[in-house]
Amino acid sequence: MKPETQVLVRPARNVHGTVALPGDKSISHRYAMLSGIADGPSRLENYSTGADCASTLGCMRALGVTWERKGSVIEVHGRGLSLARPAEPLDCGNSGSTMRMLSGIVAGQNFTSEMIGDESLSRRPMQRVITPLTEMGARIESQEGKPPLRITGGTLKAIDYKMPVASAQVKSCLLFAALFAEGETRIEEPLRTRDHGEVALRAFGVNVESKSSGPGTVARIRGGQRLRGIEARVPGDLSSAAFFLCAAALFPGSQLLLPNLLMNPTRARLLDILMQMGLRISVTQLEQVHGETVGSLQVQGSPLKGATIAGADSAALIDEIPVLAAIAPYTTQGLEVRDAKELRVKESDRIASVASNLRLMGAQVEEREDGLKIPGSQTLHGAELDSFGDHRIAMAFAIAALRAQGETLIRGAESAAISYPAFFETLDQIVER
Ligand code: S3P
Repeated sequence: MKPETQVLVRPARNVHGTVALPGDKSISHRYAMLSGIADGPSRLENYSTGADCASTLGCMRALGVTWERKGSVIEVHGRGLSLARPAEPLDCGNSGSTMRMLSGIVAGQNFTSEMIGDESLSRRPMQRVITPLTEMGARIESQEGKPPLRITGGTLKAIDYKMPVASAQVKSCLLFAALFAEGETRIEEPLRTRDHGEVALRAFGVNVESKSSGPGTVARIRGGQRLRGIEARVPGDLSSAAFFLCAAALFPGSQLLLPNLLMNPTRARLLDILMQMGLRISVTQLEQVHGETVGSLQVQGSPLKGATIAGADSAALIDEIPVLAAIAPYTTQGLEVRDAKELRVKESDRIASVASNLRLMGAQVEEREDGLKIPGSQTLHGAELDSFGDHRIAMAFAIAALRAQGETLIRGAESAAISYPAFFETLDQIVER
């Protein structure tokens, strides 16, 4: 673990420049896992630089997958569906994605493995993967539904499963486990969540059917299918770009160019919301890369209105709500967030973390069980804030600090490295003071 660092953020006048984002975290995790169980080599360019995706690679190595890093490229030597019994516990670090999605793959192996995580991950709910994987035939011990997990795998049975929580991590976990099951697995999600698991499986040559069903989707996948390695460039991370988009939204004269960004429709709701709020965004050079939509964004700031995020939008924007909430006091009408109870079980309780930091900056905030109500047209002052060990909270408040009066100190700023190690340097390059 990195030593605790503090970062001082001074107010800005404007935001201007070009940012090339590191590879998307969600896609990087999935590509690393699937290339490990593919037949033949894979080449992953622009792999996420975040510590979370390094945790996934570390676990894959412990499971007998060899890989090398060559600059921003990871070359993975797939070993097919059978992995090696790990000599030590699989260390997932801070990464819920690693633990939840990889549990689907180790549940299909003929050995027992233990999955551990840091203090934050050890508090996070895992019953959502334990219940269906147990139904498929895996034996899983946990600490009352929390990590560490001890998973004894083997050949699994296909299931027909209706997910009680809308979670792309759980959906991917089950799609991956289904590869090791006899028969066809059917997974129904209550709301549409990001579809990178389905898209990545197809890129590796697997047949996955997916259909809309009301506000959610139903996916079907047959067991026993083999994967073939791929050569891919991971598109820039849209959830990391969100911080810069929100920074641009704070200054009417701002201009940003974000090339090669992920534009997957299940992730791009942020762009609609920011446009509704007043940010001017144009997208060029749209293309499909291994089933993922990629494009270049040109962004111009203008005065910001408020927004309401509720229902399916709360699931679609779950990673971007902290930064939208952090800039909400500077909008004219404020922000209301509902139906976002999942925020309470992320890397920190993000509803409480956002409310606490905004109040320290002098903002009025109403904290609710499933969301927040933040009035607009407020003036914030600089303050000493805490990241709560949560990367998205550290970065969200570095953005809020740009429009505050006076300097803001962010304690625990090192946590930004979980998804975006170069965040503070990059922010400095585009901010004009
Ligand atoms: C992710 C899904 C979301 C998101 C997380 C990444 C993914 O979590 O918050 O950062 O890659 O599938 P849930 O599946 O728990 O909603």
